[in-house]
Amino acid sequence: AQPVIVAIDGPSGTGKSSTSKAVAAQLGLSYLDTGAQYRAITWWMVTNGIDIDDPTAIAAVAGKADIVSGTDPAHPTITVDGVDVAGPIRTQEVTSKVSAVSAVPEVRARITELQRSLAASAETGIVVEGRDIGTTVLPDADLKIFLTASPEARAARRSGELKGADLHTTREALIKRDAADSSRKTSPLAKAGDAVEVDTTDLTLSQVIECVVTLVEEKR
Ligand code: C5P
Repeated sequence: AQPVIVAIDGPSGTGKSSTSKAVAAQLGLSYLDTGAQYRAITWWMVTNGIDIDDPTAIAAVAGKADIVSGTDPAHPTITVDGVDVAGPIRTQEVTSKVSAVSAVPEVRARITELQRSLAASAETGIVVEGRDIGTTVLPDADLKIFLTASPEARAARRSGELKGADLHTTREALIKRDAADSSRKTSPLAKAGDAVEVDTTDLTLSQVIECVVTLVEEKR
């Protein structure tokens, strides 16, 4: 069989990661969390004292971090210059700075190249989750899904994941990040014209997984 390429995009808190991982595991496909890559390069910028408010400074060092993503859905890994950053990329500091870093075109060009090469080398296929996968990174994907959910549902899911964050603060931060991601010039968060939109507000995770698995099987 031909490798199958699945693009899953949408704002944060729609269940993208849980869905993508489960679908990949169930179908024996590789898995790539592109948000983790943008978080990893943001972690590198913060660690190296780069001024996040200076796009020129960010662009100048966009190629410096060596980001390696493991694509096993059962054990997703991410390292920067050989350092395991799976934990540090989830801090509130990185989360609050990632939109500014990922808006810089040189950063996007660099990360997009990594994503395309991982997708091209996936033997049975891959599930790639992000914001611009269906529109920009893999426009020829076999299946494109765009996940949505109400802001309330998204904030509730996110604050369940993050320790010590209250619902209101999480909701405000999430809305701010989505607005930044949707309004940037280079490959903003957007639904591809040929993407299937799934509103997950009133669905359980298993229902969303089942829905996506069925759609992938129809394409194989
Ligand atoms: O998915 P996650 O919330 O971890 O993504 C973190 C951030 O990475 C997003 O808010 C966005 O700024 C950036 N991102 C992006 N393009 C992608 C995936 C994530 O710009 N394909």
